[in-house]
Amino acid sequence: MNEIVLVVDFGAQYAQLIARRVREAHVYSEIVPSTISADEVRKKSPAAIILSGGPKSVYAVPAPSLDPAIYDLGVPILGICYGAQLMAQQLGGEVANTGVGEYGRTELTRHGSSVLLTDWPATTTTWMSHGDAIAKAPEGFVVTASSPEAPVAVMEDVARRLHAVQFHPEVAHTERGQELLTNFLHHVALTPPTWTNTSIIEDQVALIRAQVGTERVLCALSGGVDSAVAAALVTKAVGNQLTCVFVDTGLMRKNEGDQIEETFTRQFGVELIHVKVEDRFFDALAGVTDPEKKRKIIGELFIREFETVARDLAKDGQGPRFLVQGTLYPDVIESGSGHAANIKSHHNVGGLPEDLSFELVEPLRALFKDEVRHIGEELGLPAEIVWRQPFPGPGLGVRIVGEVTRERAEILRNADFVVVDEIKKAGLYRELWQSFAVLPAVRTVGVMGDGRTYAYPIIIRAVTSDDAMTADWARLPYEVIEGIANRLIREVEGVNRVALDVTSKPPGTIEWE
Ligand code: XMP
Repeated sequence: MNEIVLVVDFGAQYAQLIARRVREAHVYSEIVPSTISADEVRKKSPAAIILSGGPKSVYAVPAPSLDPAIYDLGVPILGICYGAQLMAQQLGGEVANTGVGEYGRTELTRHGSSVLLTDWPATTTTWMSHGDAIAKAPEGFVVTASSPEAPVAVMEDVARRLHAVQFHPEVAHTERGQELLTNFLHHVALTPPTWTNTSIIEDQVALIRAQVGTERVLCALSGGVDSAVAAALVTKAVGNQLTCVFVDTGLMRKNEGDQIEETFTRQFGVELIHVKVEDRFFDALAGVTDPEKKRKIIGELFIREFETVARDLAKDGQGPRFLVQGTLYPDVIESGSGHAANIKSHHNVGGLPEDLSFELVEPLRALFKDEVRHIGEELGLPAEIVWRQPFPGPGLGVRIVGEVTRERAEILRNADFVVVDEIKKAGLYRELWQSFAVLPAVRTVGVMGDGRTYAYPIIIRAVTSDDAMTADWARLPYEVIEGIANRLIREVEGVNRVALDVTSKPPGTIEWE
């Protein structure tokens, strides 16, 4: 079993990044709230604890704190930024509200020998973001580095294995940040680097087998990365007990259904039910233009089709009892905090009716997206599926403004293919969060050859983002935009104009509906 490192979350988004960096050092990590008690920590018997940064000052009221008994458990602890200041304050040092902070690249100067900064040069560039600073280290600590505004930028109590850094080792701008984390994990906390793709797969395969025994398992494939990797893991565990269902709504990307069929039927030899029900979706969507209504119709019909398959399979009494879901770790963390206004009603198979009582199999619950992609590759899924950009549950339906018809879906599918193809050729596909085409509900006049045209424009939407909560419009090179525009006009019938969406999120959302 893998050893576990607990990342205590003091707010903002620092904790997730730290947890990912720990895993990049091949050590399993979990995020826990700052309200965790020493008793709860002891029960998890972690190999180490990392205290994250946070947006507050330790002097704020209220400011998140930590059960002080945690320092006495004998578990190695690394405090980062807010976590460092809190450690200093709780153990008898002093934190000064100086009013002069450091933000961005900051030079760090080391003093004497240090366990954390082994082999570091006299000065290094680190990334800081703090208003307060530790003014005096607690008793037992040695100060091993400083910066212009942080006299105690690194402090260490080697005997108690308590260490703290004012800068952020988890961000890429800190030159030797990952090295520091690796050093803390492997040489201070003595955790072996055993969290690897192979170990994740082995663990999950064993867990799936233990959970489902000899029963049948159902999995809805969406064409996306998560459901494909979850299905591939279940295939490896209990392939001959698995039935996959792919509901073709008519709102999928070009060749999506064929590729799923090719991969899962021919490559993996899994039973796949390909439900081709485009007509039902187009019939139900006829005349509907309201975005929320469209989403509801697509979501409900999807569930109904899926339900029909499940009921058919259950007719002989041998129906599947388990349902695979591609839930990821960030969903698990976020659903614990009960936040966020409902901006758009998202759909996935989570909303199945109660009388279809499946037990869920969620083999990706502990994983971040990048880990999911890597194990997908290791399991032999094609790069085209594994590195696919996110695609919304209602598919092209939320990118067709106004009425969704078979003809308009076809125009958008062809346009989407061109946009993505050109982005891939330019080598930009992986660095963009999403890049796709949008079909608005207007037509414009143009001239082609000698004739007047009256056809649809296509809008190019390309964004960069880390988590889809915020996004920036991508500064695509002019040549790439030109290449896309030329091909759209030449190759996609029904299109005579191309525009570019330069809206960030907020104020826009990534999708148009
Ligand atoms: P927005 O448009 O809200 O999208 O900025 C944020 C991210 O979520 C995706 N998205 C969806 N995903 N079901 C999904 O599974 C949905 O109904 C849905 N709507 C939007 C969107 O593609 C983007 O990555």
